[in-house]
Amino acid sequence: MEKREQLYEGKAKKVYATDQPELLVVSYKDDATAFNGLKKGTIEGKGVINNHMSNRLMAYLEKKGIPTHFVEELNERETLVKKVTILPLEVIIRNLAAGSFSKRYGVEEGTAFSMPTIEFSYKNDDLGDPLLNSYHAVAMGLATQEEIETIKKYAFAINEELKAFWADCGVILVDFKLEFGKTADGTVILADEISPDTCRLWDSQTKEKLDKDRFRRDLGGTEDAYAEVMRRLEEHLR
Ligand code: C5P
Repeated sequence: MEKREQLYEGKAKKVYATDQPELLVVSYKDDATAFNGLKKGTIEGKGVINNHMSNRLMAYLEKKGIPTHFVEELNERETLVKKVTILPLEVIIRNLAAGSFSKRYGVEEGTAFSMPTIEFSYKNDDLGDPLLNSYHAVAMGLATQEEIETIKKYAFAINEELKAFWADCGVILVDFKLEFGKTADGTVILADEISPDTCRLWDSQTKEKLDKDRFRRDLGGTEDAYAEVMRRLEEHLR
């Protein structure tokens, strides 16, 4: 496999073509943004952690029957993935109230839900990724009804697997964002990343935040928090 031209540069990753049409290389950066790009910064070493953590978690999910884009970790920051067309939806699963949910509905952060929730937002930077429901998504042609059903099924299954996984690491999976893509033959698979950038992870005992909220909220200790969750994940998988 040979890495070819850069196709895309996002806020946290770059994507490169390869000499094989169905494969891409993703390269993780240390750049961090929040609030739709209004806050910018660097989390030293984040690219290395997110690359490795996302790969370990996707390989774990594959074993549990969830199809993902993960193919092979190439080096510290780069991973070979299946080429997909990303569905322009952010899929958010929540187990406890936090973040935009707490703000929007006036529910105190940390309030546990009686069952996990799912929400979709329209991946569109110009519009600030507005919330939308599945009917909007189908009506706008962002996904078919069948694709939405598949996404919901996978998202809740991923939640059950990851909630249990992180619990064994002494971490509460508060909420997280997923993105799905379609391969050339139309199969829906999990894409993008699963990392402290895209999940809220709290220490089970102290409820300390071990994720990107440390950066978003200027809490300090962001690098240490990322390193700590990575350490716990590695220890658990050993
Ligand atoms: O901000 P909000 O409470 O809606 O975020 C819910 C979850 O989705 C958090 O874990 C956050 O890290 C993740 N998220 C993300 N990318 C976004 C928006 C939210 O990874 N653009």
